[in-house]
Amino acid sequence: MGCTGFAVLQLLLLLWSSAVQAAEPVPEVKGLQPQLLTVPPGFNISVYQDGLPKARTISATVVNGSTIVYVGSAGSDDGKNPVGNVYYIVDEDSDGVPDFSGTLLRIDTPNGVVVQGSDLLLSGFEDGKGMVWRLPDVHSYALRNEPFTGNKSVITDRLPGDRWHGRRVLRFSPDGLLVLAVGVPCNVCKLNRTAQGIQFGSLYSLNVTSGELRQLATGVRNSVGFDWHPKTGELYFTDNGRDKIGNDVPDCELNRIPANSATVLARPGATTPASIPNFGHPYCHTEGLGDPYARDFGAGKPLLDPEFNPNGTVVNCSDPTLNRQPVQALGPHTAPLGMRFYRWSKNTPGAFPREYDGTAFIAEHGSWNRAPKIGYRIMMLRVANGTNAVSDYEPFASGWLQNENDNAHNFTWGRPVDVEQMPDGLLLISDDGTGALYRVTYNASNVDSSSSSSATRSVSASQGPAQPSGAAAVRAAAGFAWWALLVVLACVMHSNP
Ligand SMILES: *[C@@H]1O[C@H](CO)[C@@H](O)[C@H](O)[C@H]1NC(C)=O
Ligand SMILES: *[C@@H]1O[C@H](CO)[C@@H](O)[C@H](O)[C@H]1NC(C)=O
Ligand SMILES: *[C@@H]1O[C@H](CO)[C@@H](O)[C@H](O)[C@H]1NC(C)=O
Ligand SMILES: *[C@@H]1O[C@H](CO)[C@@H](O)[C@H](O)[C@H]1NC(C)=O
Ligand SMILES: *[C@@H]1O[C@H](CO)[C@@H](O)[C@H](O)[C@H]1NC(C)=O
Ligand SMILES: *[C@@H]1O[C@H](CO)[C@@H](O)[C@H](O)[C@H]1NC(C)=O
Ligand SMILES: *[C@@H]1O[C@H](CO)[C@@H](O)[C@H](O)[C@H]1NC(C)=O
Ligand SMILES: *[C@@H]1O[C@H](CO)[C@@H](O)[C@H](O)[C@H]1NC(C)=O
Ligand SMILES: *[C@@H]1O[C@H](CO)[C@@H](O)[C@H](O)[C@H]1NC(C)=O
Ligand SMILES: *[C@@H]1O[C@H](CO)[C@@H](O)[C@H](O)[C@H]1NC(C)=O
Repeated sequence: MGCTGFAVLQLLLLLWSSAVQAAEPVPEVKGLQPQLLTVPPGFNISVYQDGLPKARTISATVVNGSTIVYVGSAGSDDGKNPVGNVYYIVDEDSDGVPDFSGTLLRIDTPNGVVVQGSDLLLSGFEDGKGMVWRLPDVHSYALRNEPFTGNKSVITDRLPGDRWHGRRVLRFSPDGLLVLAVGVPCNVCKLNRTAQGIQFGSLYSLNVTSGELRQLATGVRNSVGFDWHPKTGELYFTDNGRDKIGNDVPDCELNRIPANSATVLARPGATTPASIPNFGHPYCHTEGLGDPYARDFGAGKPLLDPEFNPNGTVVNCSDPTLNRQPVQALGPHTAPLGMRFYRWSKNTPGAFPREYDGTAFIAEHGSWNRAPKIGYRIMMLRVANGTNAVSDYEPFASGWLQNENDNAHNFTWGRPVDVEQMPDGLLLISDDGTGALYRVTYNASNVDSSSSSSATRSVSASQGPAQPSGAAAVRAAAGFAWWALLVVLACVMHSNP
């Protein structure tokens, strides 16, 4: 082949390569698209169960060898009716594949579910009041693939009935108290108190036997996920930042309540003592440092609320007794909901590797009013024992938001809500955008070969600390173009001395 022929070939190759390499945006698709999700090498994410409209928080247990997963919901799929389903999903032989599922019952805003022994505890609304109920002997219904027809009993009806930030998560503390949040009934407002003595913008513990409520924290705008550090037992919780002061402020937060912090009994006429940990709402927020899509480690800097504390004269946001700084700024409008510390166990071989012990997984529901969108992913974070020192903070699962650097083609198709460690040590993720649960598995022998599978290729770095994959493709194409051009030029010069 002559030089001209070679040059032509190079040009054809160049054209072909730019067509292929210019990283065609993923075409917009609706509905469940698990093939678009990316997790680190060795991990695999796949649909565990779909057909669960508005799937929210997850609680799982094993009964007589069967794995039962309960899932709360946010109401009807069209968003018009707050009455929604509580689902059960049964994997009879616990082989990781559900055998049947159904609706346990329907109530108003059944967001929070948590198993306690033979019962399920459930949050919701009735007669304008915020409730927690007990569903006794619930597993026998789920295992028979039947709706719950027993009598649910009231654990408390003392919670406010406000729907704004009223989707309540329930979790048991290591010492057996039920913890829940009472979000502010507004975008940003002062923390009023109900006639029952319950303060908005607070975390409470509930003794499910006596009904006693104790305030654990104040100044919390809307926490929809929490867990206790496996080593220190300290409570960590996500908090969603306010809206309408900008695309890049304030940050959502991961917070920590130090061990042995004060608590106070909630009763009519109660006040909140200054010793209760205060996280600053509505006076103080936080602004993370660095890239909004991949914040630097740490709390960032305090941000004064422009309406309630414009000059910092109302509250000193640098004073930790008035505004406890977050463990980690989670980015603006990312909407962190469920969070879980991973608890590694030698009794669940085939689960996640040991180095994930103590890693926090945080589900970002994603922004609703930011342009461009942000979040829509599962982040992982490592925090040192009993301190605020974060040593790792990066995406674990992403892909619900596509083409995010391409304004003409960006789209979302799902919204992660909760993360739950299953009894077999694997991770379950809920998505109220598609009404699905995903299961994340790990297989060490796939660590090297994983790049060949779209479902297991390493985390799409476009929202993470590394280079955007789209940009990398463009750079690769550009590099190749330069190289091809040089070859052609050299060729032309050679043939025309
Ligand atoms: C990932 O999981 C799905 C569903 O179980 C399976 O079909 C697929 O083969 C798995 N991929 C790898 C690389 O193991
Ligand atoms: C579990 O098995 C025992 C023994 O067969 C039985 O008595 C019990 O009812 C089962 N539990 C449920 C929830 O079905
Ligand atoms: C529910 O309560 C009613 C009325 O007290 C009673 O007749 C019925 O047996 C109860 N059902 C169950 C499953 O306990
Ligand atoms: C709940 O209250 C009862 C009665 O006061 C008490 O005996 C029990 O220890 C409390 N439970 C927890 C988990 O603190
Ligand atoms: C809080 O209480 C004040 C005074 O009673 C009232 O004006 C305000 O509307 C209340 N805020 C909310 C969010 O209920
Ligand atoms: C973390 O704290 C626990 C309990 O306080 C302690 O047993 C463990 O040694 C600590 N680990 C590290 C790495 O500091
Ligand atoms: C904030 O400072 C400005 C300028 O010093 C002042 O005009 C304003 O009254 C202050 N606002 C508050 C709420 O203190
Ligand atoms: C605000 O609090 C910080 C930390 O306690 C303190 O150093 C600073 O002096 C306080 N500022 C004012 C104006 O009181
Ligand atoms: C796509 O980009 C445009 C321009 O930045 C933005 O307005 C829009 O919200 C983005 N959509 C998504 C899904 O991110
Ligand atoms: C892990 O992957 C290897 C290689 O693909 C496969 O042979 C093995 O069956 C997988 N193990 C499990 C538990 O899926």
